[in-house]
Amino acid sequence: MLRLGVLVSGGGTNLQAIIDRIGSGDITDTEIAVVIASREDAYALKRAEENGIRCLSVVPGRFTDKSSYEEALAGALDEAGAELIVLAGFMIVLSGGFVKKYEGRIINIHPSLIPSFCGNGCYGLKVHEKVLDRGVKITGATVHFVDSGTDTGPIIMQKAVKVLKEDTPESLQRRVMEEAEWEILPAVINAFAHNRIILEDNRAYMEE
Ligand code: GAR
Repeated sequence: MLRLGVLVSGGGTNLQAIIDRIGSGDITDTEIAVVIASREDAYALKRAEENGIRCLSVVPGRFTDKSSYEEALAGALDEAGAELIVLAGFMIVLSGGFVKKYEGRIINIHPSLIPSFCGNGCYGLKVHEKVLDRGVKITGATVHFVDSGTDTGPIIMQKAVKVLKEDTPESLQRRVMEEAEWEILPAVINAFAHNRIILEDNRAYMEE
């Protein structure tokens, strides 16, 4: 049984997609060991509570520096026995040292087709604003392993979504979630649980 540690910051719709796909049997041999939020008011915590999942907040502002924050975060993940760390709308950039500790077992969902519209300062709704400003016709979402850079780790799975003429950042965000994020994040987790993800020479492959 693969034990997930899910890190969240906000609404938690990606967390909900994981919960639902475990419930429906699309993700098997997997359980959520813990949900950890970077904010006390993250709605994702409610979703975890409602589903009887262990959850807590570890808030960066409560610590004197980044290393003590990350020590507390790692402590909570390790205590819960988390084997795969899933950044599901987690808005904190983790240090190289933290990422190294979980190398090959920490993944992130990003709401664009990396390497477009990603990197420092490009997250959440801002991604979709930039997509519309640039006028691209295709966007999407990416699940990738996390390395010491921002959105630079090996890409595991991507799915494209059409940009419509009438899209607003909000409507595009919603469609990217519905058509791409809530599909590919559960698919990657299920593949990981069944050893179908291969990481070789800094490239990731998902076996069918
Ligand atoms: C999602 O669109 C996720 O891809 C994005 O934030 C949203 C969180 O929504 N993450 C990033 O931008 C990370 N760079 P959720 O809390 O409802 O899952």
